[in-house]
Amino acid sequence: MSTAPLRIGIVGLGTVGTGVVKILENHGGLIAARTGRRIEIGAVSARDKTKARGVDLTRYRWADDPLSLVQDQKIDAVVELAGGADGIAGQLVRACLKAGKPVVTANKALLARHGFELAQLAETQKAPLLYEAAVAGGIPIIKALREGLAANDIRALYGILNGTCNYILTEMRETGKDFGVVLKAAQTLGYAEADPSFDIDGIDAAHKLCLLSALAFGHRPDFEHLPVTGIRHVSAKDIAFAGELGYRIKLLGIARRVDGRIMQRVEPCLVPADKEIAGVEGVFNAVFAETDFADDSLFIGRGAGEGPAASAVVSDLVDLARGHNLPVFGLPAAQLAVPEWIDDGAVVSEYYARMVVLDKPGVLADISAILRDHSISVESLLQRGRDPGKPVSIVMTTHPARHADMMGAAQALASLKSLSQKPCVLRIETF
Ligand code: HSE
Repeated sequence: MSTAPLRIGIVGLGTVGTGVVKILENHGGLIAARTGRRIEIGAVSARDKTKARGVDLTRYRWADDPLSLVQDQKIDAVVELAGGADGIAGQLVRACLKAGKPVVTANKALLARHGFELAQLAETQKAPLLYEAAVAGGIPIIKALREGLAANDIRALYGILNGTCNYILTEMRETGKDFGVVLKAAQTLGYAEADPSFDIDGIDAAHKLCLLSALAFGHRPDFEHLPVTGIRHVSAKDIAFAGELGYRIKLLGIARRVDGRIMQRVEPCLVPADKEIAGVEGVFNAVFAETDFADDSLFIGRGAGEGPAASAVVSDLVDLARGHNLPVFGLPAAQLAVPEWIDDGAVVSEYYARMVVLDKPGVLADISAILRDHSISVESLLQRGRDPGKPVSIVMTTHPARHADMMGAAQALASLKSLSQKPCVLRIETF
């Protein structure tokens, strides 16, 4: 195995890129001892050369054109941290792989949308494509699924995969403040982006789940077949009622295989408050894996931020330095299945529903009739206070019901004149 330094080109010098520079500067000796060779920064590249980044980059060669690194004989591997499903990130990764140059990336959007094509390319060209930093930052979940749990049949994964959403839901629970107020505060603190839609609409979590599902079940990543619901419609009232009922609300990414068929989805759910994953709060991420021989495993850690994300990138560089080249999604690309999907309409779950209704006789009878007509059986019903003629919240939980029936009931409930807003319907995930 080579003992020559591994010379890398870093493209993208935001939080993660500068974090990688700092780790390599701080732990150069440690990494060399662990891999038998040094990892050297051969070149760096970003859109803006003049931006202050808190690290001295003048000692590194600056590449104005990131694509020039592809054919650069002095660069052994490229670290793509530019981001985005298409554009320069996609061009760079494809060009590197075509040239047989290894790539390390944190780009979940690119892999969720084009992962199969890139895995094929990586394999044909014998160029490693590594992406530990794409999912759950500091939690080594890609390596855990691909390597650590490789002996197991993985049955299901449940993940808190977006720190921004988990932070917002935690703050809402702890302060009783509503979504909009907490989001604004999170933006001021830098926990949420100025345009937070990728996070709060569940897209970021869905990109990550798409990769975990492909790895766990050995299928082609398929973002187009991943139903996503974000957290905009969850109110502080829902969180408080869920608490009274013994639950916490979490934005969960869930992937499951039943009889060879796959289900993957991202949505806010009620989780029993005494489950460990319910206690994962704030910006932390978690992945709970159900496997046959290793049994259940729960991984918790920081999902984002300079240190955790850069640590994940450097762990991939360590793999490269050691000469590892593993299949991108844990199987040779030709063996990655075209997934067959579970019909979500037929999936049976318990549900939580909160309706804001006018406090007047007969409203419950109307609601009950709709539930009866959609074969929904009520498990508990809660109305707090009395305010004749004014809106009040009614909260119910159901016995196990088919998703299609519950969605039909929710639609019919929304059209009731006595409801002043759409009901908030959430699944209860009992694992
Ligand atoms: N924006 C993500 C989060 C981190 O809030 O968890 C990067 O994927």
